[in-house]
Amino acid sequence: MSVEPSMEVHLAGLTLSNPVMLLSGCAGFGEEWAHVEGFDFSKVGAICLKGTTLHPREGNPPPRVAETPSGMLNAIGLQNPGARHVAEVILPQVLRRPTRFIANIAGSTVEEYAEVARIFDDTGVSAIEINISCPNVKEGGVAFGSDPVMAARVVAAVRSATSKPIITKLSPNVTDIRVVARAVIDSGTDIISAVNTFMGMAVDWMKETPILGNIQGGLSGAAIKPAALLQVWRVYEVAGARGIPIIGQGGILSARDAIEFMLVGASAVGVGTALFQSPLVAEKIVAGIRDHLVAKKLDTPQRLTGTLKIPSA
Ligand SMILES: Cc1cc2nc3c(=O)[nH]c(=O)nc-3n(C[C@H](O)[C@H](O)[C@H](O)COP(=O)(O)O)c2cc1C
Repeated sequence: MSVEPSMEVHLAGLTLSNPVMLLSGCAGFGEEWAHVEGFDFSKVGAICLKGTTLHPREGNPPPRVAETPSGMLNAIGLQNPGARHVAEVILPQVLRRPTRFIANIAGSTVEEYAEVARIFDDTGVSAIEINISCPNVKEGGVAFGSDPVMAARVVAAVRSATSKPIITKLSPNVTDIRVVARAVIDSGTDIISAVNTFMGMAVDWMKETPILGNIQGGLSGAAIKPAALLQVWRVYEVAGARGIPIIGQGGILSARDAIEFMLVGASAVGVGTALFQSPLVAEKIVAGIRDHLVAKKLDTPQRLTGTLKIPSA
């Protein structure tokens, strides 16, 4: 007899109807999805809003995106209309949609992160994701995420600015991600997102110039999956023991990819770059995870988390 699994996942204080979310920067501010034919908000676990700073930002000079033979490079530079506009004008529109919304915040100083968190604390978002891993801005971003002391300071400041669940999004552009994971757990993060994009660049060999206006950018998509899986496996070594859930991400295109991330330690997963080619892919991933649970006779996705079998030598 097959048991219908419950797809609900509980990530610290954040409960999602299923473990698949749309990632920041790849899903706009949510409302655009009302115009995507066939898209059903209630079928995705959450939508993570575009990175938001205290004041509006124009972003980096164009071109901001470059396709490479393996992976996509972007250097958007956190273009956004500012936290107050998002909270007062955009959120009242999107929050009536039947899914969870998560703010994604960034700043050039620790105080700016706290101020933006305070603004979102007063809204209906279900959690606040701290982006200390943006590789495409001159101040803040990965400069905070690659220094465990600064990362801890940002998390502690956001912790004192909000009672909502905090997700800290880690950068893979570090020597040992476990050091930063430990620091953000110690300073109060509830959940970890792993990982943001890998730094890269693209060159026009005929013009002899960089392709991106910002010269460097973040690599995402299928090309980064093996590297991202290893980072999640490493973060799980630290976070799993402390009961901190991980939102695994980096190149997920299918249910199989999502399940691989869960096996190495993720409790939920995110889909980013794949949405540009296939906006309904998240719903397909949810259905595929469910089928896998039925086939394996498991009652919840969390039974997969961290169950990778390591053959003994
Ligand atoms: C165009 C683009 C914009 C992004 N903007 C943000 C952002 O504003 N904040 C953030 O935390 N991550 C941002 N990211 C990173 C994604 O949320 C995600 O962590 C990363 O791309 C890895 O997942 P993927 O390979 O499925 O895209 C962006 C990624 C892309 C491709």
